[in-house]
Amino acid sequence: MSAERLIGTSTATRTLEAEIHDAARSDAKVLITGESGVGKEVVAQLIHQQSRRRNIKLVALNCAAVPDSLLESELFGHVRGSFTGAYRDKPGLLELANNGTIFLDEIGETSLRMQALMLRFLENGEIWRIGADRVQTTTNVRVIAATNRDLAERIEQREFRVDLYYRLNVLHITIPPLRERRDDIAQFLDHFFRAYAERHSSPLPELTAGARAALIDYDWPGNVRELKNVIERLVVRGCATAIDEADLPPEVIGLSRRRAPKGSGTPAAPNRAEELYNRMVVQGESFWSAVHPLFNARDMTRDDMRAIISMGLTQTRGSYRLVLQLFNMPADDYKTFLNFLRKHQCHMPFFKFRCLPSQPAAAEKSLVAEVRM
Ligand SMILES: Nc1ncnc2c1ncn2[C@@H]1O[C@H](COP(=O)(O)OP(=O)(O)OP(=O)(O)O)[C@@H](O)[C@H]1O
Ligand SMILES: [Mg+2]
Repeated sequence: MSAERLIGTSTATRTLEAEIHDAARSDAKVLITGESGVGKEVVAQLIHQQSRRRNIKLVALNCAAVPDSLLESELFGHVRGSFTGAYRDKPGLLELANNGTIFLDEIGETSLRMQALMLRFLENGEIWRIGADRVQTTTNVRVIAATNRDLAERIEQREFRVDLYYRLNVLHITIPPLRERRDDIAQFLDHFFRAYAERHSSPLPELTAGARAALIDYDWPGNVRELKNVIERLVVRGCATAIDEADLPPEVIGLSRRRAPKGSGTPAAPNRAEELYNRMVVQGESFWSAVHPLFNARDMTRDDMRAIISMGLTQTRGSYRLVLQLFNMPADDYKTFLNFLRKHQCHMPFFKFRCLPSQPAAAEKSLVAEVRM
């Protein structure tokens, strides 16, 4: 579901469209900033698509996903024999993106060493493959970078080079969080309900006025990505009747109720369990990396763990198998997960969570399998 246009009619979105349009007219470097899930990658894609480079590649590199030891080779390439495993010459992404655009995502996560190498490239466009004794080639690449970090703070902490910041920050596009452009939410809801109903061949769900109001009122800390995920889950779960407030995830109802009074600027902080739940459900982390180590290190209580499991079971209406999916664990971890919960007395009886209306048939089946385990 890659965006061909920006969804939303708020003034902020209109301004964003104008900024994309202006950025696409030139080859100037662009720095895109904004919270996680606001649409930084979408904006980078739209700039490329509207630019004169649109028929050449847009090469994207997530700098945070590649270990530092590989990042240099990924970007600049290497020559044969330059390190163990370098069996042949390999061009880097900067060469592959020649005449196109390179999107350096999560630039704020790069090491100072990588920043120095990037700076050298940005200053003269020269590419020095690892192990080469001279500059290999020069390339004509349009650079777009993005980060959800506060780069000024990173610079202050001496974790980001100020000279690289100025190189990248020729055009600066800041994408506001969804809670600051609430006028867009209704359109996002309509768009994603329609798109996911089509994708999963499900009927288009109806929303009660209360549910719609709660979705519009929620602060969406995970921004558009969170909203998309919530809607996909609602569509997949399928409701026989209109989606009501009770069908919405607990954080949508809970956090929207506890929101700080209007005008105070900051939303109420979620508690420990909510925070960890959001790390999995909103930010996509696995239970094994977000929660399990904290529990083992006694950095969270059994009650926190039980609260997290309850939130999961409420969302899946009592299905532990769907909780695995919700908490980003492979299906094969089912037994390990349940054994872990039983061992620490955090296994919640699932039937408490089943007494909700419109239980989908598929979930019934998986529950039967669980009873037998
Ligand atoms: N204005 C928009 N119109 C349509 N889809 C959008 C829009 N903004 C965001 N999305 C969708 O929301 C999801 C998150 O967007 P994207 O990946 O661009 O966010 P991001 O800011 O790069 O997040 P992160 O910092 O976590 O990498 C994507 O699936 C994207 O398609
Ligand atoms: Mg991104």
